[in-house]
Amino acid sequence: MPEELLEQLTEQVLQGAKYREIAPELVRRIGAQELDKRRSLKEAVKATKNKLHQVGGAYQQTKLNYEKSLDLLRETAVSQPTQLRTTCHQLMQAHASTRERLSILDEFYETIFAELPPVHTVLDLACGLNPLAYPWLPLPGDVEFTAVDIYGDMLNFIQDFFELAGVNGRTQQRDIIGNPPTEPYDLILLLKTLPCLEQVDKHAAVNLLDAVNGSYLVISYPAQSLGGRSKGMVENYTEQFMGLVNGRNWQLHRFEFATELAFLVKTTA
Ligand SMILES: C[S@@+](CC[C@H](N)C(=O)[O-])C[C@H]1O[C@@H](n2cnc3c(N)ncnc32)[C@H](O)[C@@H]1O
Repeated sequence: MPEELLEQLTEQVLQGAKYREIAPELVRRIGAQELDKRRSLKEAVKATKNKLHQVGGAYQQTKLNYEKSLDLLRETAVSQPTQLRTTCHQLMQAHASTRERLSILDEFYETIFAELPPVHTVLDLACGLNPLAYPWLPLPGDVEFTAVDIYGDMLNFIQDFFELAGVNGRTQQRDIIGNPPTEPYDLILLLKTLPCLEQVDKHAAVNLLDAVNGSYLVISYPAQSLGGRSKGMVENYTEQFMGLVNGRNWQLHRFEFATELAFLVKTTA
């Protein structure tokens, strides 16, 4: 496929208001696949946008106004610091996947962290708005928290949140399919992300698990679809996950919450 065509496709997709904040490397990856499959540039642009919607935009149907949200966070931090959880809870509603966890948030992190030794470095991969759940995480004040996703504007907002809330955090815009992080972390969160990555590349989950370097991983799956139906998802995802574990020397804990199936993995002996 000519490089110029891929350049044109990437430029056209990134001009769209819904796509301009997405990591260009992911637009190129999907664009190259679609140019291979489609008959024209126009069709490939449309198909690339559809795929990007499936893996990202679909979760942000009501996009946060980041300016206003920051103002709200600032007001809370100054006048009612004890209300930080309430404000974060409210803002997390804006990401469909993060929102699904709100009804189980206390239970989710308490249950999982009860099985963990103290952690000092955390990597939240394909984070969505989950970093706003930081006030629920039983972590030491100096923990280093790294949040990764594909949306530049959302990550800027999360970085501002870290600064306001006094979190030792940083953000990275990155396509974790083509460029998975390999640095060591005590804990890596991969919440409801593997099925999403597999929509772009069926080997993405295996490749990512081969690449990342965490002493502990939390890998989770939705227990219901975006539309709210469950359709045997827990059984299917348990089976999928066990397929990924096969051949790895991992110790596992399985947790079934009302809206999420989660596995805590100890990767080191
Ligand atoms: C199902 S949501 C999960 C969000 C978050 N982990 C949670 O559970 O609250 C999937 C997330 O993956 C992000 N994403 C999709 N493809 C990605 C990629 N190739 N690299 C990094 N992030 C990606 C999307 O923007 C979205 O925020």
